[in-house]
Amino acid sequence: MAISSRLDTARVFTTVLLPTLAKGVIVRRPGVMAAAEKVQSDTRAIDTMRRLRDRYGPEPVRLRITGRSVAMLVDPTDVGRLLAGSPEPFALATKEKKAALKHFQPHGVLISEGPERDRLRRLNERALRPENVPAEAIVRDEADLLTRHVMSTGELTWESFNQAWWRIARRIVLGSGARADDRLTDDLKALRENANWAFLHPRQRGLRERFQRRLDGHLARREEGSLAAQPGDLSGQVPHWLFAFDAAGIVTLRALAIGARGMNGILESARLWPTTPVILRESTIATRWHGTWLPENTEFVVFTPFFHRDPDRLPFADRYAPELWDGPRDPAIVPFSAGPGECPGRDLVLTTAATMLDTLSEHLAFPTLSAPLPGTLNHFGLRIPAEPTGTRVS
Ligand code: HEM
Repeated sequence: MAISSRLDTARVFTTVLLPTLAKGVIVRRPGVMAAAEKVQSDTRAIDTMRRLRDRYGPEPVRLRITGRSVAMLVDPTDVGRLLAGSPEPFALATKEKKAALKHFQPHGVLISEGPERDRLRRLNERALRPENVPAEAIVRDEADLLTRHVMSTGELTWESFNQAWWRIARRIVLGSGARADDRLTDDLKALRENANWAFLHPRQRGLRERFQRRLDGHLARREEGSLAAQPGDLSGQVPHWLFAFDAAGIVTLRALAIGARGMNGILESARLWPTTPVILRESTIATRWHGTWLPENTEFVVFTPFFHRDPDRLPFADRYAPELWDGPRDPAIVPFSAGPGECPGRDLVLTTAATMLDTLSEHLAFPTLSAPLPGTLNHFGLRIPAEPTGTRVS
C-alpha cells in the first residue's frame, strides 16, 4: 500500500496543500497570490506531486494524518474513475467543503446529498443553459464601456476588468436591476472571506441574512432576460452562481494575457491556471485501487495543476494549446470537473467569457505572454498595455 513517509507527507502539506489554502480556496487573497507568483508555488507543488508518483507508483498515496484518511491521486485514469463515480460512492459533499460553503450557500447543490442533490442538480442544469439568457449582448454592452475606459488609460488592469465583469455577472444572473448593486457582491465577498477559513471562522448569521434578503429582493423581480426568470426556487442556488462568476472573470483576464481566443482559449486558460485547484471527493464505502483497499470516508484529493501541467506526460504542459480541446482528451484534464458533478455552468461560462475576449480584442491590441508560461499567474497584478486597433467602438 502507498503510504507516504512522514517527510513526504510534510512536503505535500508545505508545498501543495498549505499554499493552496493560503491563496484562498473560496476567494483569493491578493497578498498571498503576489507572494506565490514570486516563488512560482504551483511549479513547486507540481514537482512534489511528480516526486510522489515516482516514489510510490500509480496508486493513490495516503498521507500520514491521524484521524482522517486522505489520499492524493497521481494516476490520470484514477481521476476519471473518481469523477465518474460521483456522488456515489464518491460524494461531492465532503466534510471540508460543507464547512467552507455553509458560510454563504448552505442550500447549494454542491453540498447537498441524496434525492435532494438529484433535484437541485437538475434545477441547476436546466437554469444554467446558455440559451436562457442573452449573455452575448450583455457582455458586448459592458465590454464597450470597458474598452472606452481602457482607451483613455492605455492599459487594462484587474481592477477595471473586475468592475465590468461583476456588472456582467449581476445582469446575467439577476437582471439589469442588479447591475449597479456592488453592495450585494461585496457582502458575498465578505462571506466568502469567512468561508476561506472553513471550520475556523464563526458563521456571521447577520451578514448572511442581510445578503440573502438583498438577493431575494432581486430574485423576486424574476427579470426577463436573466437567470432569475428561470422556473423553480433559485434562492439557495444563486449564491453559488454569483460566487463562481469570480472564477470566470479570473480565467477570462488570464486568457487575454496569453492572447487566447474563443471557447478553446478559455478552456486553455482554465487548464493552465485551474481556478478549482483541488477537487475533493469523500468515499461512502471502502474502495479498491490498484489492488489496495481504502476505507470508507477516505478523502480523495485531485490536485489539478499537477494533472494539467505534468511535464513528464504532457508535451504541451507549459504552452497555449487550444487544439487540445478538439479531440479525445486525457481523463485528468478537468478544469470544469467531469462526470455527474461536472460544472453545470460550463457552457454559459464559455459563451460569456469567449464573447468578452472577442469584443475586447476587436478594438484593442494587447501584448501577450509567451511560452513557457508561468506556473503561477497572479491575476490581481495583471496590467496589460493596450492600443486601439482602429476599429470603432459602437
Ligand atoms: C471559469 C469558471 C468556472 C470554473 C472553472 C468552474 C469549475 C467548476 C468545478 C471544477 C466544479 C466542481 C467542484 C467540485 O467537484 O467540488 C464546479 C461545480 C459547479 N459549478 Fe462551476 N465553474 C465555473 C463557473 C461557474 C459559474 C459561472 C456557475 C453558475 C453560473 C457555476 C456553477 C456551478 C455549480 C452549480 C456547481 C456544482 C455542481 C454540482 O454540485 O453538481 N460554475 N464548477
